[in-house]
Amino acid sequence: MIKLAPSILSADFSQLKDAVQILDKGGAHLVHIDVMDGHFVPNITLGPPVIKSLRKHTKLPFDVHLMISNPDQYLESFHEAGADILTVHAEACTHLHRTVQQIKKLGMKAGVALNPATDLSVLKYILPDIDMVLIMTVNPGFGGQTFIPQCLDKIRELSKYIQENQLPVEIEIDGGANLDNAEEIIKAGTNILVAGSAVYDTPNPVETIQEFIKVFSK
Ligand code: DX5
Ligand code: ZN
Repeated sequence: MIKLAPSILSADFSQLKDAVQILDKGGAHLVHIDVMDGHFVPNITLGPPVIKSLRKHTKLPFDVHLMISNPDQYLESFHEAGADILTVHAEACTHLHRTVQQIKKLGMKAGVALNPATDLSVLKYILPDIDMVLIMTVNPGFGGQTFIPQCLDKIRELSKYIQENQLPVEIEIDGGANLDNAEEIIKAGTNILVAGSAVYDTPNPVETIQEFIKVFSK
């Protein structure tokens, strides 16, 4: 099953409760939450207190994407706030294996994200330990950017490797996805599609979510 994970980064931050409830109404599968520290990426968003306050407004799993340097010291806080999947950037972790083990020990699913220019080879020895790879299809930091086409080959290559090695690892893509390119992105091997502006910057986000799900069943 292909899952849609709308990113609340593109929602109105003064109406975040409504923003997550829209996802329930539309039938989205996950809530994608972008955490930025102004250090690893040139933007600052939100942290555990905001996630905690949203937790009571939906039963959808929280897919928390940490775009922060030195994530280790905050793993427990994000777990307590209600994260179900916690994704760290390979580029931000000096001891990635240790970080992944810690996320799993806390009872969360572990994801590893790669920036567009980072080679898949960094995953080779960690792939059997993780639940999800997040392929960044834009440079992280902002919503509303254009999908980088070279990433399609990266998704295909990873999907092939995962299938050949029979690993229970999901592929999520993040950045620049919309109703026009979703089919191609899914065909390349994506299991979870993040969409921010393509959901929230539309007149009727509930209907837009349903349209995405229709594309997935093509
Ligand atoms: C970018 C974030 C994305 C972003 C995607 O750094 O990780 O999750 O919200 O936004 P769109 O779908 O508008 O590219
Ligand atoms: Zn993200």
